[in-house]
Amino acid sequence: MPMQDAAHWTPVRTGRVLLRRPEPADESAAVRLHLDPRTNVHDPSPGPVTTAQAARTFHVISQHWHSFGFGVWVAALPAEPAGLIGFAGVSHRVVRGRPALNLYYRFHPDVQGRGLATEAASAAVRLAREHLPGLPVVAYTTPENQASQRTALSAGLERRPELDVEHHGRTDVYLAADW
Ligand SMILES: CC(C)(COP(=O)(O)OP(=O)(O)OC[C@H]1O[C@@H](n2cnc3c(N)ncnc32)[C@H](O)[C@@H]1OP(=O)(O)O)[C@@H](O)C(=O)NCCC(=O)NCCS
Repeated sequence: MPMQDAAHWTPVRTGRVLLRRPEPADESAAVRLHLDPRTNVHDPSPGPVTTAQAARTFHVISQHWHSFGFGVWVAALPAEPAGLIGFAGVSHRVVRGRPALNLYYRFHPDVQGRGLATEAASAAVRLAREHLPGLPVVAYTTPENQASQRTALSAGLERRPELDVEHHGRTDVYLAADW
């Protein structure tokens, strides 16, 4: 998978959100966000997220940028570019044996419900279509996570029940664009 020109992918300004490459200085805020139980209500994994798991998530996101020149952004308010109000973006993922881009988002509870995740996810889908046009964009979540499903729909994905996966008594529901 070829390296992207990171200048096309960061920083990106939407109407109200600054989307930028994660930096090492973001790690503690990133870990706090991923540990916040309010952002894990629909997490299908048993038990609370650990600090080690939250740190690993941040490192995986950062590593993807190093490997491919694009990935999941830190979302910040333009007036506070060093801050962190969430994450959104796309990263490589193989789905049903097919190379694809996984759409990810997680926003701080204090800023949810204002359309910011929709702005960020829409920017990710737009850039994916522009710079990685051969790859479908997918999002998967739990049946209960209406906010996640609605964000994906608003960003241009469609519900694709035929891609759903049942495992360990739960269902991953899929949405996709250009599948
Ligand atoms: C998913 C998430 C990023 C959405 O963030 P947000 O800032 O609330 O999103 P927006 O304000 O852009 O709203 C997006 C859509 O979700 C809907 N929504 C937001 N909160 C909702 C809720 N609690 N229940 C149902 N729908 C909700 C909005 O009405 C909107 O739908 P619409 O465009 O059809 O009106 C946020 O809920 C979150 O971080 N959740 C925890 C992490 C997570 O579950 N990530 C997805 C993992 S698969």
